[in-house]
Amino acid sequence: MVIINPGNPTGQCLSEANLREILRFCYSKKLVLLGDEVYQQNIYQDERPFISSKKVLMDMGSPFSKEVQLVSFHTVSKGYWGECGQRGGYFEMTNFPPRVVEEIYKVASIALSPNVSAQIFMGLMVSPPKPGDISYDQFTRESKGILESLRRRAKIMTDGFNSCKNVVCNFTEGAMYSFPQIQLPPGALQAAKQAGKVPDVFYCLKLLEATGISTVPGSGFGQREGVFHLRTTILPAEEEMPEIMDSFKKFNDEFMTRTNFIIITAVLLLIIYKNNWEREKKRGEKHFLFLGGLMDLRLSDCHECVQVEEIKCDPIQIERTIRN
Ligand SMILES: Cc1ncc(COP(=O)(O)O)c(C=O)c1O
Repeated sequence: MVIINPGNPTGQCLSEANLREILRFCYSKKLVLLGDEVYQQNIYQDERPFISSKKVLMDMGSPFSKEVQLVSFHTVSKGYWGECGQRGGYFEMTNFPPRVVEEIYKVASIALSPNVSAQIFMGLMVSPPKPGDISYDQFTRESKGILESLRRRAKIMTDGFNSCKNVVCNFTEGAMYSFPQIQLPPGALQAAKQAGKVPDVFYCLKLLEATGISTVPGSGFGQREGVFHLRTTILPAEEEMPEIMDSFKKFNDEFMTRTNFIIITAVLLLIIYKNNWEREKKRGEKHFLFLGGLMDLRLSDCHECVQVEEIKCDPIQIERTIRN
């Protein structure tokens, strides 16, 4: 079983009770737990501080602490270092037989080593400046400053998303991501279908085209059917954040209104034409139903009225025609 805590893409932090439950489950099913804890420094609330799976496992005592096999991961590319260019990381294995550890050690030793600067970063990460060291004050000030700024950015982003039409977003408790749910109206689903795109991919592409904001559609991570998300990071510079969120809001609110407007317009046109058709039909005149090529309706006759059996419409074309 794999857990990412704090989480990517959702930015959640697991509580101690969550972790105990997961470890008990792994024990009962004899599963190895891979604990990806690379965002352990990135915490933006005080209610659920980071607790490592290893600590919880050890606190649970025997038989769990002696038997559950756990691999814990960490890297230099997150935290306040954010050194994505430096490829350095480690994993620690708990409760694995020495022979397995030896084999893994052998495989790791014959692979290419990280470059020297990445190894230096790794050393600094596991052994940061201590009180009394020459750089201790500066290190503490800078790392605290970066984390406080990320906390503010997490709040600006969550509040920004929650102020948008049809968008709901949980607070980014940890990691570096915001994962708002985008509630797409029927017009947008229809437009995405016409474009041959998954709805949240369609939304993210339109967002990119309109604003230059690049996001990851939730469908890339797997999500409940009919539910749509996007993932974005809270990493843009703090001073640029309000402008970015304004730009997102402007795009989103227009997108939601426009796609709804298309469907409402289509339905109104349909009602008007259907009424006309019935009136004409009563007069016994031959009539063609034609909406300027916008819609195809399949109609069936009964004695008194006309029933619409099927509607095919192209919201993009409708929108274009309305604009023109
Ligand atoms: C959950 C998670 N684990 C691991 C990594 C990779 O870390 P690294 O930069 O050391 O390859 C990432 C990178 O984005 C991540 O999101």
